[in-house]
Amino acid sequence: MNDVTRDWVRSLPKAELHLHLEGSLEPEMMFELAARNGIQLPFRSVAEIRAAYEFSKLDDFLAIYYQGMSVLRTRRDFRDLTFAYLQRAHADGVVHVEVFFDPQGHTVRGVPFADVVDGIVDGLAEGERQFGITHRLILCFLRHLSEEDAFATLETAKPHLSKISGIGLDSSELGHPPSKFTRVFAAARALGLRLVAHAGEEGPPEYVTEALDLLRIERLDHGNRALEDSALVERLRASGMTLTVCPLSNLRLCVVDDLRKHPLRRMLQSGLNATVNSDDPAYFGGYVLDNYMAIVAALDLSRAEVLQLTENSLRGAFATLDATSDLR
Ligand code: HPA
Ligand code: ZN
Repeated sequence: MNDVTRDWVRSLPKAELHLHLEGSLEPEMMFELAARNGIQLPFRSVAEIRAAYEFSKLDDFLAIYYQGMSVLRTRRDFRDLTFAYLQRAHADGVVHVEVFFDPQGHTVRGVPFADVVDGIVDGLAEGERQFGITHRLILCFLRHLSEEDAFATLETAKPHLSKISGIGLDSSELGHPPSKFTRVFAAARALGLRLVAHAGEEGPPEYVTEALDLLRIERLDHGNRALEDSALVERLRASGMTLTVCPLSNLRLCVVDDLRKHPLRRMLQSGLNATVNSDDPAYFGGYVLDNYMAIVAALDLSRAEVLQLTENSLRGAFATLDATSDLR
């Protein structure tokens, strides 16, 4: 046991930088929205849904994640989803969020892009009013889809760019390297969008290098497998790159088979700006504070290490936040 208590971690100001809004859809809300929208779910109960959340790799999860998000149909649904997440984040002591959404998962079902983005913005605005949580919104391209599809999505997003801060890359990693999206990331950069990408979750260190060299990312989502290449670690350290690490996600998707073997401490010891995030909390068993407490317990992290993590989250945000702390 150490002296890092849940209440103390909750009290630390922190930002969440790796959160898929659709991954915060709890089974209870899934049922509620299915009923509201007249959609039949292939599950009879919340318990049955939760029992289906057994994954041995990223693709197992993604299949159920895309099925789950099919209940999201209206601007109000996206507002409710976003606000429910911010209530949880507020309870965990989160002061700022930079959240992902997957518009292609919705437009493919005929949901207008504007309803998705405006519903999310409604929820974010309500969260800021009620809790003072500030925010940025990041549009993710689904990497299992084509470059052409990503370009079409960027085109659709153009009238909404005042509401969108950046571009990300998610979904099935293996076989869909960052190089597939070099041109669309260049186009997004020319529009003034900030750039992030998932890399090195399941994919090899070379995918991280591609994300740096070809996509010119400013923040790395996951990045676990970068540790296999010491020159790459040094490059990430020297450039001050922030890594958005997701411990419970890594455990549930079998990126690590035991949290005690999780690379987070090694990342910190290597001088990397690692942060703790929840990824898809409704599917992986916990929101951001649960992620902190799980990794604190597994690695016996000290107060100084936890402070480093929370300060990294504030410094790693695209928004300018006050990351000074006198709690050390
Ligand atoms: N990895 C890749 N794509 C995703 C994830 C993830 O953890 N969550 C939602 N889309
Ligand atoms: Zn993710």
